[in-house]
Amino acid sequence: MAKRSNTNNSKHSLSLPFLFLLFLFFPSLCFSSNVTYDGRSLFISGRRRIIISASIHYPRSVPAMWPGLVEAAKEGGVDAIETYVFWNGHEPSPGNYYFEDRFNLVKFAKIVRDAGLYMILRIGPFVAAEWNFGGVPVWLHYVPGTTFRSNDEPFKNHMERFTKYIVSMMKSEKLFASQGGHIILAQIENEYGDIEKVYGDGGKPYAMWAASMALSQDIGVPWIMCQQYDAPDHVINTCNSFYCDQFTPNSPNKPKIWTENWPGWFQTFGATNPHRPPEDIAFSVARFFQKGGTVQNYYMYHGGTNFGRTAGGPFITTSYDYDAPIDEYGLVRQPKWGHLKELHKAIKQCENTLLFGNSKLLTFGPLQEANIYTDHSGGCVAFLANMDEEKDKSIVFQNRAYNVPPWSVSILPDCKNVAFNTAKVKTQTSVVEMIDENLQIPEGWSIFQEKVGIWGKPDFVKNDLIDHINTTKDSTDYLWYTTSFYVKGGEKISNQSLLIIESKGHAAHVFVNGKLQGSGYGNGSESKFNLTTPVTLKPGRNDLALLSMTVGLQNAGPFYEWVGAGPTSVKICGLTSRTLNLSSHEWAYKIGLEGEHLSLFSPYQNGDLNWKTYSQPPNNQPLTWYKVIVDTPTGNDPIGLDMQHMGKGQAWLNGYPIGRYWPRASSPNDKCTSTCNYRGKFFPDKCRTGCGEPTQRWYHVPRSWFHPTGKNTLVIFEETGGDPTKISFAKRQTKHIS
Ligand code: GAL
Repeated sequence: MAKRSNTNNSKHSLSLPFLFLLFLFFPSLCFSSNVTYDGRSLFISGRRRIIISASIHYPRSVPAMWPGLVEAAKEGGVDAIETYVFWNGHEPSPGNYYFEDRFNLVKFAKIVRDAGLYMILRIGPFVAAEWNFGGVPVWLHYVPGTTFRSNDEPFKNHMERFTKYIVSMMKSEKLFASQGGHIILAQIENEYGDIEKVYGDGGKPYAMWAASMALSQDIGVPWIMCQQYDAPDHVINTCNSFYCDQFTPNSPNKPKIWTENWPGWFQTFGATNPHRPPEDIAFSVARFFQKGGTVQNYYMYHGGTNFGRTAGGPFITTSYDYDAPIDEYGLVRQPKWGHLKELHKAIKQCENTLLFGNSKLLTFGPLQEANIYTDHSGGCVAFLANMDEEKDKSIVFQNRAYNVPPWSVSILPDCKNVAFNTAKVKTQTSVVEMIDENLQIPEGWSIFQEKVGIWGKPDFVKNDLIDHINTTKDSTDYLWYTTSFYVKGGEKISNQSLLIIESKGHAAHVFVNGKLQGSGYGNGSESKFNLTTPVTLKPGRNDLALLSMTVGLQNAGPFYEWVGAGPTSVKICGLTSRTLNLSSHEWAYKIGLEGEHLSLFSPYQNGDLNWKTYSQPPNNQPLTWYKVIVDTPTGNDPIGLDMQHMGKGQAWLNGYPIGRYWPRASSPNDKCTSTCNYRGKFFPDKCRTGCGEPTQRWYHVPRSWFHPTGKNTLVIFEETGGDPTKISFAKRQTKHIS
């Protein structure tokens, strides 16, 4: 292991008395922080720094939650908030920008600044992030000649234009550290190095163009590119992984930065729930700083919610909880949050010696090592690591014996006393309770019944099954494919007629002669599906209507924007004399639902003419819109909407998009564990819970979406059928257990 020595950076620092005098005589003087770096660390205002950073994505919560989330992060011992910028949320159509409400980036940035935290701005503008289409606007895919993330003019032009737009917005608000603001780093692209080769000749030139385009923005703080192994000089390549202690940047002049440490993982509808134990997260962070890291970011620190149709995937759940230190609803998750807070404290105690000291590596066995940092002023810091997955190890260091548990690091800020061991969790565990609250006001229900198949006139007719996404351009999840066929007089219909559909994804409901016959869907690892369902046919004309659906567009992977969806083959077997291949039949298409067209989800939709009122809503009925007035919950606890008795669809409160709901259960045969062994390398399938249960039963409804005075409108669009009287709200509370 190489030794690293650092020289004091006195040439970079201003003397304290001088600074004091400056502040005394020029109190309004605004200092811009110069952010620079060398091979050891970032320098902020001339001072070497260790930065603990926390990802909080502004559109995954609401402005009313931002100050609390940022405070909870600060309280948890972080120095910086990291966020992506979500291009498709900001530019819904070309040149038409949106920065309001959850997309008010400047407001979010100022909340972070005013809390005294730094910010890392990952502009992307491709971001992945389990966000719809990886953050790139869908309309850009339809600009002729565009290939995303390749050396291709239309893409580069739009990417540069948007990057400039964001940069100039931040500059005009003076948010870059070079201007006196708090943005210390900016990111261009995202993990392109992992797939650059797949882009052939378009790959490397694009990556180099992105880097130089970024540098030309002249923001006065360093640019980073994550997982970009060939990042040019002046752009820092950074690491994303569950562990980054072994990462080295591509130049000795660049510091070691970890942009994504995943403290959990995301969820997909129909899968079990992942958990990463706090001991292992702490271990990974301690190892990173033991091995010379300067910036470490938790992706996510607060995951939040994929409201509306912002989830990507496909099949990413509406919840983006991520098993993060702050849960989806904004409550601290214990012991994770507290254990990491203790870790941050211990690391901060070591900061100066780590940054200015010489490091010496000592080995105590094949899986045990220590890094000892000593500085000129007598400071001494030791990180004692035991990577053995099973056994404790007694490490004798400076004549004292330290018992280091398996897969753990002990941090000794004075080389004597253990301030923190990553495997010893002292924080109490919290458990979550969802306390039912009946908010439905007995004013009855309003119902709107969607027609099966074409409503109004077809959008067009084609003798072909066409791609779903190319047709809707993601203006909606829904596309109707409808056709008719004839069972000839005298032709025998077996009772075993089967409808066989092959689809690229993501989901479909099939209706024959107006009746729901079956549904099919892919899953988070495979979007494609085949649906085989028995159908009841009648002599003469039979009407077939397929409601094809997307469940969040692909958000990553080489050439991901070309991945299609929708049925590719439709056949009927079991007519005694033939198999009826309907794939090249005449298909009539309709984009979206009538209820979407009428904006039934909006409180401002035109009158109540479209709705019919009932005292009892119809139960188990497909394609039904429900509207009900609900009270405002008392107290301050966060609120979840319990949708376990419904089928699949979308929900809104007072016009705000709660998101897609789908209490789709994972298989009882999936692998789950009631306890999680923190020892050994973590991977997303290691510790799962919820086998056989809905992946997501509760849907976060931010408090600020309720009217303080009551009378809130809850609208549900249900695709297959459920029991709406069993929809309920629940307050989320945590209690501590030891
Ligand atoms: C990374 C990516 C992030 C996010 C993460 C998984 O590869 O950079 O945007 O998708 O994976 O949550």
